Amino acid sequence: MVKVGVVGASGYTGLELVKMLVNHPGFELTYLATTQGDTTIEALHPSLKGVVTMPVEKADAASVSKACDLVFLALPHKASMGFVKHLIAAGLKVVDLSADYRLELDTYEENYCAHEDRENLPSAVYALIEYYREDLKDTNLAAGPGCYPTATLLGILPFIPYIDTSVPLFVDAKSGVSGAGKKLSETTHFVTVNDNIFAYNPLKHRHAPEIAEKIKMIHGVNVHVNFVPHLIPATRGELVSVYATLKADIDPMMVLKEAYENDTFIRVRETPVSIKNTAGTHFCDIFAAVNGNALFVSSAIDNLLRGASSQALAAANLMCGYDEGMGLPTIAYVP
Ligand SMILES: NC(=O)c1ccc[n+]([C@@H]2O[C@H](COP(=O)([O-])OP(=O)(O)OC[C@H]3O[C@@H](n4cnc5c(N)ncnc54)[C@H](OP(=O)(O)O)[C@@H]3O)[C@@H](O)[C@H]2O)c1
Repeated sequence: MVKVGVVGASGYTGLELVKMLVNHPGFELTYLATTQGDTTIEALHPSLKGVVTMPVEKADAASVSKACDLVFLALPHKASMGFVKHLIAAGLKVVDLSADYRLELDTYEENYCAHEDRENLPSAVYALIEYYREDLKDTNLAAGPGCYPTATLLGILPFIPYIDTSVPLFVDAKSGVSGAGKKLSETTHFVTVNDNIFAYNPLKHRHAPEIAEKIKMIHGVNVHVNFVPHLIPATRGELVSVYATLKADIDPMMVLKEAYENDTFIRVRETPVSIKNTAGTHFCDIFAAVNGNALFVSSAIDNLLRGASSQALAAANLMCGYDEGMGLPTIAYVP
């Protein structure tokens, strides 16, 4: 058994990791931590009472290194890089869910803050599983993609060779409120969100440069990404619709089916996708349609799972030589 820990166990993605790890056949959960520690996991998450009893410590790199072979960092950006340099030096495998190791140095510093671990940044593998599977088998540091970039990239990447990249991509994204983490703000207040839908950071969200950078890395083309996220009155789930201009005649469903014929966790749908069929699972559901030179691609994921924690677990599985799908949730919260 590989000993694993979760730093950030009181947060939303930390909880999802704990829920999957307690039943994982190849991982033994040996360490949990938050900023304050001195509590238990069932005190932090009452839903876990009777399921798992474990102390939660005050996060500290030396304790993590003693207790674990692999650690998940479910932390805000900037907090993660403070841990990673010590953990990698101590020989641990690390899966970071924050933005700290997702981007090239310039892209990161333009959109986040100064990077404090330039040594490890170049060796991090972007954990978009279907595109970096082989690289993940051979790394000690995986960087979980953003939730919106996960859904957007899985949908649009198969079409990049067929679209006119001189025309901007338009990405219309909608997310449940858990995408913002557990900290309350006026934007995520019940009264603001309930019976409501609204855009936030239109054309300025920092997931746009992440999407553009990964399209460039995977297909070698520059494309301008116009990205507008919206908050919807749901707890979890993301629906991303991408609009692009084609330069070739294609059967969009054939393109998707061929791209993902060997990928168990991508479900190519014959009808438009919805968040509910993926909530609670690692699946990404994708649908596409064409009219003339207009391409519509729509993908649905659970932001906390495929957009964060189950994708992190799939990366950890690969890093430890396990089957990619080991312990990943597949049954949606329906009805
Ligand atoms: N939510 C999503 O859908 C989603 C999707 C993709 C990626 N992500 C990324 O995943 C990361 C975690 O997101 P989340 O939604 O789980 O956030 P969250 O609910 O706000 O939880 C953050 C966690 O980090 C801990 N923490 C903060 N600073 C720390 C520090 N310096 N040392 C130790 N622990 C610290 C917090 O502990 P305390 O309780 O003690 O403060 C809490 O457990 C973020 O980087 C986020 O961008 C989230």
